Amino acid sequence: MDDLEKLNELTEGRPELARLVQESLEEIGACRDGEDLEHARIRLLGKKGTVTGLFKGLAGLTTGDKKVLGQTGNLLRKLIEERLDEKGRELAGAARSQAGRALDVTLPGRRPRIGHKHLLTQVTEEITSIFVSLGYQVVVGPEVELDYYNFEALNQPPYHPARSLHDTLYVSRKDPHRESPDDVLLRTHTSPVQVRVMESRRPPLYVISPGKAYRKDEIDATHSAMFHQVEGFAVGTDITMGHLKGTLEVFARKLFGEERDVRFRPHFFPFTEPSAEVDVSCHGCGGSGCAICKRSGWLEILGSGMIDPRVFEYVGYDPEEYTGFAFGVGVERVAMLKYAIDDMRVFFENDARFLRQY
Ligand code: DAH
Repeated sequence: MDDLEKLNELTEGRPELARLVQESLEEIGACRDGEDLEHARIRLLGKKGTVTGLFKGLAGLTTGDKKVLGQTGNLLRKLIEERLDEKGRELAGAARSQAGRALDVTLPGRRPRIGHKHLLTQVTEEITSIFVSLGYQVVVGPEVELDYYNFEALNQPPYHPARSLHDTLYVSRKDPHRESPDDVLLRTHTSPVQVRVMESRRPPLYVISPGKAYRKDEIDATHSAMFHQVEGFAVGTDITMGHLKGTLEVFARKLFGEERDVRFRPHFFPFTEPSAEVDVSCHGCGGSGCAICKRSGWLEILGSGMIDPRVFEYVGYDPEEYTGFAFGVGVERVAMLKYAIDDMRVFFENDARFLRQY
């Protein structure tokens, strides 16, 4: 026996109840769209609706009547819910097939969602364009590189102690037991572009080179096996440390704001002498110390230095004639500092909800 048959049996001899059931179901049957259906739902099942009314009427009744009325109410509620759902599905199906038949050309168009550049691309372009505005030329180099360009000609011959700083991903090695300039690897930094450009051109050179670099790093909040750098260098007959400082100060202020202080901290890189790391005063606290700068007031943004004469020798430049400076900026680092992002993995997980914000 289905619910309707049970209801009919229960309401036998009680014409008002039988009419209530019939009218309720008819009301649902007459609905023509979702709005009708919602109104019917409220009228039948709402706080002041038919079914609630039925239960409210229980109070003054005898036990036998209470039982019948209670059962009728419960069954009716269940039946109404089922019929509403059924009708809803029916109406939705009808609307779909209607839409398939007729194309309403007066409907407003659906705007396609337009994507935008990834935050790392935006930051790379911002860095690059600052140097382009200073007269630098963009040159890109290969990501699969020879040991010679990545290490040797940057004054790191095999077994140079600085090589161990780079956890290199090799593509192929001449001899797995010894380092060789012929080994093929994924470049561990963008600096090899310096060598490639100098090898094929003569000064004056003002070059900026964005790109990917790779290291065998464990992935965590501040490390990724693939990351981005922007390399830059200038070579001429009388380029000095003063030019390096002036250029990088202009760069740091354009990138982080004119009010930033910039400092140069002595450091070591095999391919520059002297070398310096560059810090900008923290935008979080203006230099007084906060969580962003780990209380130091400064944020490291790049490595730099005067190109080592040994590098000039490798590319066949006379170190007595030419001088130059070079620098390498970490793009993820800059993006994290600029946008207060504390975990690098968000750049690569490609969660559109994160990326859309920028
Ligand atoms: N190649 C360095 C690195 O990946 C960054 C760097 C430092 C580049 C000093 C330079 C430089 O050109 O002069 O850590």
